[in-house]
Amino acid sequence: MLSLYGPLLEENVAIGQLGQSLDGHIATCTGASHYVTGPESLINLHRLRALADAVVVGRATVEADDPQLTVRHVEGPNPLRVVIDVHGRIDDGARVFHGPAPGALRLTGIDTPPLPGVESMALPLDGAGRIAPDAILRALAARGCRRVLIEGGGRIVSCFVAARALDRLHLAIAPLITGSGRSGLSLPGVADLGDAIRPDARHYPMGRDVLFDLDLRRRAEGPA
Ligand SMILES: NC(=O)c1ccc[n+]([C@@H]2O[C@H](COP(=O)([O-])OP(=O)(O)OC[C@H]3O[C@@H](n4cnc5c(N)ncnc54)[C@H](OP(=O)(O)O)[C@@H]3O)[C@@H](O)[C@H]2O)c1
Repeated sequence: MLSLYGPLLEENVAIGQLGQSLDGHIATCTGASHYVTGPESLINLHRLRALADAVVVGRATVEADDPQLTVRHVEGPNPLRVVIDVHGRIDDGARVFHGPAPGALRLTGIDTPPLPGVESMALPLDGAGRIAPDAILRALAARGCRRVLIEGGGRIVSCFVAARALDRLHLAIAPLITGSGRSGLSLPGVADLGDAIRPDARHYPMGRDVLFDLDLRRRAEGPA
């Protein structure tokens, strides 16, 4: 699958991923997300982790899933596991902080107290209390992480898409309808369809799911 994974072998690449229902939800309204998508999509996710130097998740994903963020369903190295927790709400019991090498990193605001036993890096916040995606990617590049997977949830991936900080997005769509739930992508709307993000796209069957591999650096050819 060189067309799918080849672009991720570039020197500097940021890729987002989300697995969602047909109606655009990445979890139920209670936050349950295991598993929106099927086993083939889970293997694809672990392959992305194995190709990444660092995998980044938002605070709400750690609270909902207590993920390990390690590579278990394919062979390959574990990435650095990065949690964005600007206010220091996640406690030191989270599994993500206790996995194998190369360990975990907590990205916080400047005034957030340290968490004993957990490596933290403080970065400046913007007026909305967010760390700019570019600043996150620069901080990770400075410690040698040049292939970065933004694994979720919807708010952090949306933040990276809105900032145009992603090169690619793997959007796995499962044939299920949850009715309501946690949103996948949520971005400022456009009035004109000509202003919609219309990336170059390929799609791949993943069991019962369909994976859209979106090249966010290239606009699709053809009529807008
Ligand atoms: N299906 C999937 O592919 C998938 C993948 C991952 C997670 N999930 C599910 O998604 C749900 C969580 O997703 P979510 O969208 O609610 O939340 P999320 O993206 O996991 O986390 C959002 C929080 O992370 C922090 N954050 C994110 N970007 C930031 C930035 N640029 N600067 C500073 N802080 C930032 C903020 O924390 P503060 O509020 O503390 O400021 C923000 O509220 C869970 O139910 C989980 O199970 C599904």
